[in-house]
Amino acid sequence: MVKKKTCVFISGQGSNLKNLINKSRDSNFPITINLIISNNKNARGNVYAKKFNIPLIIINSNLKNCENKILYNLVKYKISLICLAGYMKIISNKIIKNYKKNILNIHPSLLPKYKGLNTFSRMLKDKEIKAGCTVHYVNDKLDSGDKIVQKIFQIKSTDNEQILKSKTQDLEYKAYPEAIIKIFRYS
Ligand code: GRF
Repeated sequence: MVKKKTCVFISGQGSNLKNLINKSRDSNFPITINLIISNNKNARGNVYAKKFNIPLIIINSNLKNCENKILYNLVKYKISLICLAGYMKIISNKIIKNYKKNILNIHPSLLPKYKGLNTFSRMLKDKEIKAGCTVHYVNDKLDSGDKIVQKIFQIKSTDNEQILKSKTQDLEYKAYPEAIIKIFRYS
């Protein structure tokens, strides 16, 4: 199997990045993580670059030429798949055009419900009974691309934001690898 060269974009803790790196070490998993792009020099997830010997590019996403810098590096490392994993910045149309159908994101809600930020507090406020996560393709609208995998759990009356986050992340560690296997199953 020829594994897809993948770049993971992060801004924070990087637990999904770590999980994908671990999965990618399995010879049957369809991708390798060849590059990490972080837009936060203090992101905790940046440590996984050194730990797993993967190149890390820190890009200040407020700078004017940042998209060109991102594209330059994606080409340099021959990246064919982008996985967003807690990347707190909207991906520009230029990148989306270049990577059509090859950009994935994981979102901590049952999309199309609760796009955007603060998903858990909004769910609790609305007295939702179900929560979960969604892996989807990225298009030019926020959290709106086609769904690939969705995982659900029942919210308990004792669940607070922290508990919801932790239960959601446990499902994310299953959902992201599953989505990647699903889309590359026949390639
Ligand atoms: C995840 O919960 C994901 O759904 C959201 O951002 C969080 C990133 O967590 N997009 P981590 O940085 O992978 O730990």
